[in-house]
Amino acid sequence: MDYFVLNVSCPNVSSHAKLNDKEYLEELIGVVQQANKTFDKQKPILLKIAPDLNQHQLDEIVALIQDTGLDGVIASNTSTSRSNLKTSASRLKEIGNGGLSGKPLKNKSTEVIRYLSKKSKQSFPIIGVGGIHTAADAIEKLDAGAMLVQIYTGFIYSGPQLIKEINKKLLSK
Ligand SMILES: Cc1cc2nc3c(=O)[nH]c(=O)nc-3n(C[C@H](O)[C@H](O)[C@H](O)COP(=O)(O)O)c2cc1C
Repeated sequence: MDYFVLNVSCPNVSSHAKLNDKEYLEELIGVVQQANKTFDKQKPILLKIAPDLNQHQLDEIVALIQDTGLDGVIASNTSTSRSNLKTSASRLKEIGNGGLSGKPLKNKSTEVIRYLSKKSKQSFPIIGVGGIHTAADAIEKLDAGAMLVQIYTGFIYSGPQLIKEINKKLLSK
């Protein structure tokens, strides 16, 4: 499936904070939707969000998608949070800033998906991503309300075999 993604959640971008601003986002979405109309065939436009948004911000995302008619949400990008990690604070300081992906992100992104799905009454598709390392993790995302899933870090650790495992598990459900 081809689609455009408005990635408003990259933790390495200095204007990250601005991308959580509703008015700015509305303007940005409008410009991208206009540009999309200039093509012979329009592609769906999805908003990719951070896992670190609070409930108020997630409510705003739901309203934003519904008001602008965007085609869906990708939840989520990497996290700026370092909570609940086994790594020591001093080591984390050495490593520095950046987005956290993989297993420590799993529950956080699943809860964002669950909240968005419930709040929106499933009125738009959600692509679930964050910490999928097993077939059970993928099913957890789908059960939380994701329509599709994506795998990044899990793919590095497990390779294409993971896709086969997920598909087999889904077929046996
Ligand atoms: C090395 C690396 C680079 C990434 N680059 C991007 C990027 O350019 N744009 C983007 O939207 N997300 C990017 N991501 C985030 C992933 O697309 C994904 O949302 C996130 O890693 C959570 O999924 P995972 O736990 O399966 O890795 C990147 C992730 C990693 C690990």
